[in-house]
Amino acid sequence: MVRAGPYKLFREYRKGKGKLRDRLIVALDTDDGEDIAWLSGTLVDMVPWIKLGFQAFSTLGTEAFAWLSGKGHQIFLDLKFHDIPNTVARDVGTMTKHGAHMINMHASGGLEMMQAARYSADNAADAAKIPSPVLLGVTILTSIDEPGFQEHFGSKRQLTEQVVHLAKQSKKAGLDGVVASPLEIEPIREACGNDFLIVTPGIRPEWADAGDQRRITTPAEAINRGADYIVVGRPIIEAEDALEAAGRILDEMSGVKD
Ligand code: C5P
Repeated sequence: MVRAGPYKLFREYRKGKGKLRDRLIVALDTDDGEDIAWLSGTLVDMVPWIKLGFQAFSTLGTEAFAWLSGKGHQIFLDLKFHDIPNTVARDVGTMTKHGAHMINMHASGGLEMMQAARYSADNAADAAKIPSPVLLGVTILTSIDEPGFQEHFGSKRQLTEQVVHLAKQSKKAGLDGVVASPLEIEPIREACGNDFLIVTPGIRPEWADAGDQRRITTPAEAINRGADYIVVGRPIIEAEDALEAAGRILDEMSGVKD
């Protein structure tokens, strides 16, 4: 089996060879096909990674993978699968076959579900002779804060403990990493090591509105804390000038202290 292109690239970033622009993922959260085409075309030279959620995917369908890859994009398919193992395995296998480079699922779906997804992705990639995608477990959404977690989840754990628990389960299942808040990077690294990817939404430059996000940091702080990738949506796609906003964020990311 060929290991994923993005994962291999990630290892190079860790060796200091990678570019920061390869660690920014822009969330194209819109169902407007013209907007998607415009945003992806405008951003591609500055930001190769884009994230497609339900809105974009429902508009573009699986043809999006060949189309956007052909333009030079890497695609994070953010459908946050959460179902019985057999269904998620088939979902992930299908999306692998169509060419998604990064795929996520809710880690709370369980170890067996995540193991089935890994197995299915690797098999589908082998059959298609393409690299297996990066698979990520979504821990606790960054829109949830500690009081909300305690009130709605009925867990005996604190929020961060639950995030670390789900990260360990994701690793045990053979996933490549997790989606978590930048505020949780340190305990996840401690539990799962340096070769485990941490992808962080909940990113807000000081000049942008937090909106519904709760466990947030600035782009520079997330990179300083050791995020492998940061995910940014509204501060870029709702900016008057998306290219300028992406450039500002990349500048902030490069202001990191090593
Ligand atoms: O607009 P904003 O920057 O808040 O967008 C963040 C993106 O990251 C959204 O597409 C959202 O669905 C996604 N997200 C995620 N996991 C989280 C929080 C947000 O994938 N824990």
